[in-house]
Amino acid sequence: PAPRDLAGLHVVVSAGPTREYLDPVRFISNPSSGKMGFAVAEEARDRGARVTLVTGPVTLPDPPGVEVVRIETALELRDAVREAAQAAQIVVMTAAVADYRAAERAGEKQAKVAGDVTVTLTPNPDILAELGQEKGGRVLVGFAMETHAGVERAAAKAARKNADFILLNYPTREGTAFGGDDNEVTLVRPDGSAEAWPRLSKREVARRLLDEAVRVRAGRTTD
Ligand code: C5P
Repeated sequence: PAPRDLAGLHVVVSAGPTREYLDPVRFISNPSSGKMGFAVAEEARDRGARVTLVTGPVTLPDPPGVEVVRIETALELRDAVREAAQAAQIVVMTAAVADYRAAERAGEKQAKVAGDVTVTLTPNPDILAELGQEKGGRVLVGFAMETHAGVERAAAKAARKNADFILLNYPTREGTAFGGDDNEVTLVRPDGSAEAWPRLSKREVARRLLDEAVRVRAGRTTD
């Protein structure tokens, strides 16, 4: 049976992709399945936490016993996560947030024209970094996907965003990351220390992630 070590805590998890609309029927997105974030939410629930899961469009059903907020765009994700995070002790950002959105979202379906079209994209806010700026006593966890210099880049990212740690994964490994039921990640801290975990189910990754979050909290309150 799961330990009840998160009883009395509020855990916020973001999951899935965002959709950045160009017009009412077209958007830019990515293939995130949401499975990693849903696994974290379910594991946190089973360990006694109150859980808010903010998710982009995915095909997974709402996990029972979890407060689910469905959003589409990065700006909606930001509003929902920031609001839920007010009362949270642990925030886990697994969402694959689109880095950019259309500078102008057309109100009507855009007609096809002859030749090339140009779309101007504008950066989305970095939600994890924003949370890091007003961190309070929260434990902040991020994910990162890198194709090269992973540990170095993830450590720099954790430091820049003021996250306690980042789970680094690679888009190229079979059966892991996007869509798969397993994940193979490396835990990376802002000081550059890292632990490579073996290939595990996403639920087991969630378990170890929350174990580490509990250790970070314990380290902080006894300091
Ligand atoms: O910078 P990068 O996108 O690699 O960072 C990944 C981490 O930051 C993930 O935890 C992701 O959920 C979070 N993120 C965010 N807001 C963004 C982009 C990424 O919170 N606009």
